[in-house]
Amino acid sequence: MAIKYSEKVIEHFQNPHNVGKIENPDAEATEGSPACGDQLSVYLKVDPESHKIKDIKFQSYGCASNIATASIITDLAMNKTIEDAKKITWKQAADALGGLPPIKMHCSVLAVDALRSAIKEYEKKKLGKRFDEGLNKKNIEKQLNKIIYGKIGVDIISLRLVKYIGVDEKNNILIEITLKKDDPFLSDVKDEIKERLHTFPNIGKIKISLV
Ligand code: FES
Repeated sequence: MAIKYSEKVIEHFQNPHNVGKIENPDAEATEGSPACGDQLSVYLKVDPESHKIKDIKFQSYGCASNIATASIITDLAMNKTIEDAKKITWKQAADALGGLPPIKMHCSVLAVDALRSAIKEYEKKKLGKRFDEGLNKKNIEKQLNKIIYGKIGVDIISLRLVKYIGVDEKNNILIEITLKKDDPFLSDVKDEIKERLHTFPNIGKIKISLV
């Protein structure tokens, strides 16, 4: 079945804005999408006084939707302070493109992820900020928040599909989700939960139960 894209998606895919690499960037980050394996790099130049993004570029190894969302996200972030740029969501990016097909929403998650990682890199490198990246419920929820249920195109936290998150003293994790056994998107969701949680160091076993 052919996927239908909005005119804006096609426009940004055919003529993406801010493509390329910045030499000597203040920060850069590459993120991969556990949903599809594609990658996106974002480069930033930030004004040290105002903390406004003075230049932003991207290189995408992803699909048309990813190129289009990366293009619109760099437009949205340009000249914003890093605090404001951090608040750009994948939903806003998708809306600014006139919508994305549900099955392609994870492509805009990848674009926002890469932007936020580049900003985080800037904050670590240039502002000496430290982040709590430990294995706890809050950080697990942040990861699950990026997993899109492809049937509807909304993340599994907002859809309230995650009923329980547990971590024991050996860092074993139990996640309970409400999806039917025969849901065609179940294995994608499970695989992505595992991939995202394996980014935590010293993680134990991951159990995903259906409730
Ligand atoms: Fe991989 Fe779109 S399918 S980024």
